[in-house]
Amino acid sequence: MADPQIGIYGLGTMGAALALNMADSGIDIAVSNRSPEPIAEFVTRAAPFADHVTALDTLEGLIDALPEPRLLLAMIPSTAPMDAFLEQVIPLLSEGDTVIDAGNADFHATRARSAQLAEHGLHFVGLGVSGGEDGARHGPSMMFGGSEESWAGLQPILSKIAAQFDGAPCADRMGPDGAGHFVKTVHNGIEYADMQMIAEVYDLLRHGAGHSPAEIGAQFARWNEGALESYLFEITGKVLSYDDPQGDGPMVDAILDKAGQKGTGRWTAIEAVKLGQSATMIEGAVAARAWSAEKDLREVAGATLGADRSGFTPDVEELEAALLAARILEYAQGFRILAAASAEYDWQLDFARIAEIWRAGCIIRARLLDDIADAFRESPPEGQLFLAPRFAPVLERGIPALRRLVSEAIAAGYPLPVLGAALSFWDTLRQPRGTAALIQAQRDFFGRHGFDRVDGKDVHHGPWWG
Ligand code: 6PG
Repeated sequence: MADPQIGIYGLGTMGAALALNMADSGIDIAVSNRSPEPIAEFVTRAAPFADHVTALDTLEGLIDALPEPRLLLAMIPSTAPMDAFLEQVIPLLSEGDTVIDAGNADFHATRARSAQLAEHGLHFVGLGVSGGEDGARHGPSMMFGGSEESWAGLQPILSKIAAQFDGAPCADRMGPDGAGHFVKTVHNGIEYADMQMIAEVYDLLRHGAGHSPAEIGAQFARWNEGALESYLFEITGKVLSYDDPQGDGPMVDAILDKAGQKGTGRWTAIEAVKLGQSATMIEGAVAARAWSAEKDLREVAGATLGADRSGFTPDVEELEAALLAARILEYAQGFRILAAASAEYDWQLDFARIAEIWRAGCIIRARLLDDIADAFRESPPEGQLFLAPRFAPVLERGIPALRRLVSEAIAAGYPLPVLGAALSFWDTLRQPRGTAALIQAQRDFFGRHGFDRVDGKDVHHGPWWG
């Protein structure tokens, strides 16, 4: 048996899927887990690739099985368990070894862990992995953050197991320390916005136009054949076509309307605000999930305030144009956060490359990303996607459609936390003179905070101060 090239510790759903993907791709791996059952289960599942798998009972055994400099991938929760794991593993490793955290982690924790391991002459990699279990097993999109040395060791492995787009692997080095986990976090923020935007359209078609889930699913499937093609549209089409095997109606009607969230969408919104940005479409999606969880309150409020809303039948072609415009704006917001973080942490993020590695394998994969990559390569004005000449015709058609959709839907009583935010974002940024002069006047009035004048005169307070 050949020397394992990489060790995988943590054989839960995602760890096992990544490990199987590696073994299936001809990579020699060593695996272990804290408790023994998942190891035995993995060995059974990996039987067809047994020549490539060495299973060890202990972490010590796993580390001994790896050639130096070691690559040790941990698929365990990136919170306290990761810190406990690092405490345990650091004394067992040798200078130059790399520990890889392939979970969804707060990039601040990744940066701190990189610094912690560097003190011991070790490397720490934050690896964003997208695509769910199926992606991890058959080809995820992967966002690497860490040293050049670790990338040199890991790149051949990641290239083999990653999703491929036009023959190129959807895996790349984003930058040092927390860059990979940050890009993955923003990926998830965009995921939240896209999912909520889809849910808003579903609401309009279902309750405004009175279509059945199956009819709406068929519409998403049709849209998925055009410019809106994306994994999330594809699965929406499928999900809506199912009936409840335990009941007699559509599956979607049997599901409690309280959305879960593990935190990455919220992290995106928080980091955007910390960076002086605001990703209102992502914030809207996070808000929608939080409000959805307040089911009991909504029951009371509906009974008290009335849950009525009017019929509203959006035009399907207008909807397509509006959704495409909104999707451009949602990516524009995501990339603005990436740009702000890249400047703050000096990561030199390559936005075109990020768009490229999101074209396959990940949850937000979409036809539009090919154009987004090209738009960044063409250096859009001010670095802004929504100013990219290649999107001008789409937005020229899509924004008026979005405006009609949002205004009519709001007039009819439908909430649009994401589609509404898209329009306000657009309408704010296209105004050379906004409303902030009044905000400045108010701040000066109550707190003597001062302002700059449009004529540049050296007077910074209003007449209210005498
Ligand atoms: C991915 C997904 C994944 C995420 C789930 C659930 O890229 O494969 O983003 O990382 O964990 O989508 O996220 P929420 O529980 O926050 O919805």
